Amino acid sequence: MRCYNSPQGINGKLMLFRKSIVEKILGKNPETVSTFLGLRSVRIKDAQSKIGFPCRNFEQDSIGTDADMDVAQLDDTFPGKFKVDCRAVKYNVFVSKSMRFNKKIHLHNRRIVGFAVKVAKNLFRIFANRYCLPQKFIKIMARINENYLKLQAGYLFPEIGRRVREFAKANPDKEIIRMGIGDVTQPLTPTVIKAFHEGVDEMADANTFKGYGPEQGYDFLREAIAKHDYHARGVQLSADEIFVSDGSKCDTGNIQEIFGGDNKIAICDPVYPVYADTTVMSGKTGPCRKNGYFDGIVYMPCNEGNGFLPELPSERPDLIFLCFPNNPTGTVASKEVLKKWVDYAIINKCIIFYDAAYEAFITDSAIPHSIYEIEGAKSVAIEFRSFSKTAGFTGTRCAFTVIPDELMAYDEAGQPHQVKPLWMRRHTTKFNGVSYPVQKAAAAIYSEEGAKEVKAVIEYYLENARIMIDSLKSQGYTVFGGINAPYVWVKTKNGLTSWEFFDLLLNEANVVGTPGSGFGPSGEGYFRFSAFAERDNVLKAMERLKKLGNVKM
Ligand SMILES: Cc1ncc(COP(=O)(O)O)c(C=O)c1O
Repeated sequence: MRCYNSPQGINGKLMLFRKSIVEKILGKNPETVSTFLGLRSVRIKDAQSKIGFPCRNFEQDSIGTDADMDVAQLDDTFPGKFKVDCRAVKYNVFVSKSMRFNKKIHLHNRRIVGFAVKVAKNLFRIFANRYCLPQKFIKIMARINENYLKLQAGYLFPEIGRRVREFAKANPDKEIIRMGIGDVTQPLTPTVIKAFHEGVDEMADANTFKGYGPEQGYDFLREAIAKHDYHARGVQLSADEIFVSDGSKCDTGNIQEIFGGDNKIAICDPVYPVYADTTVMSGKTGPCRKNGYFDGIVYMPCNEGNGFLPELPSERPDLIFLCFPNNPTGTVASKEVLKKWVDYAIINKCIIFYDAAYEAFITDSAIPHSIYEIEGAKSVAIEFRSFSKTAGFTGTRCAFTVIPDELMAYDEAGQPHQVKPLWMRRHTTKFNGVSYPVQKAAAAIYSEEGAKEVKAVIEYYLENARIMIDSLKSQGYTVFGGINAPYVWVKTKNGLTSWEFFDLLLNEANVVGTPGSGFGPSGEGYFRFSAFAERDNVLKAMERLKKLGNVKM
């Protein structure tokens, strides 16, 4: 006889755990497994008296009639609403040694299988916790977030680093020019540094010293942002819709936390990798397929055919990541393009995560800097901005996220809730604010002098991009981006793959860029040059490419 239990709290339903699943969950430690399975030999009556609630006999149960695994009624609830939180589990889960499902009840879908196992494991944990296992076994249950195992090892930049290191070791006399990682090279501007110093000095004086500040940022910075970044563009936002943070990377990664785990995410391909990886970490995806796509994410390929602009997805997502000006393709979105997305989001009750980390590079006056320049966007979009590329804060760390009061999301009953208070709760619980001198330095970019200086640095980078575009075009390359963005997106010649082109450039021209395929399958055959380089290096790199030219390709 097997172990039959009917723990209250799981609606008096039947549970069956076989040795295989016990081993799978607890590991194959014979002591652990045999202790748990000791219950298997307990007859139902004994088990009932031992665990203190009614039990049912599996063999008499109308659903499970043989030794196979049945997951009854799960299909009724699939997809979506089922909570894996054990306390909310409402359904029977029977797990068999063979792990086969009764196909008659529609369990042929692999996603349901994976899902059922997840549910079974949770039931098991509750069961073990409450009724069966002594503390020492429960301790064994400390578990990792298995979603992390699905992540593809941070492949792109470590792999670039490895190849560059190997090359440098073998060729110590060669001067390598790095135009790969999108990090700035120009220092903080004088006005910013002056404010930074003043902030530090204030911290040295008991009369002006500051301890913890407001988690969402000092008023002086949030008010400056509202005035200069938004009011000046005709967007009415108040300072309390702005949350200052230490980076857009963290914010674009953390934002999913306040939305339900069963939301479907849409991302572009190629894409800034943080959106996909944090979606995987949050458990919204299946494994990574051979083509580099994760099950469960809606991908929106961006290629030459669509001008590197994502098309509206054929499958409705709940949350949509958009990034303009785009990393890595350097594409920008016109008002018409953004309006299409805002309208789609309004009709479909989606939320757009709009990453505008590179808005300061927009030179074309017709291109919107903020998604809120589009009517209706405040009810469907969260915007992320950063001082990193705008003002050289990559090492100083300051950014902000905008969540308008109008933005609503829904609970399971379909009731609307304001999103802003949820983010406020998260931000104030998990974050203690950006340091005062850094916020003071950031605010300095909104002064007259500060704005001029920052603009000059941006123009310097954009001039780099122009030099690259002209040179690459004259060498016969097809080039995109780089006009309203600091990234130049180049099509490799002669059908070289992105990595083949990377190796060619590294070995023959000693120039490092970023292989487009590292940003997603649709980036294959492309290459990203960053304009965040010293002018001399840009000129040298282009000369080297010219020499390499048609001789090698
Ligand atoms: C599209 C995009 N968003 C966000 C970030 C990160 O910005 P931060 O330095 O504020 O974390 C980057 C950095 O490269 C980026 O390319």
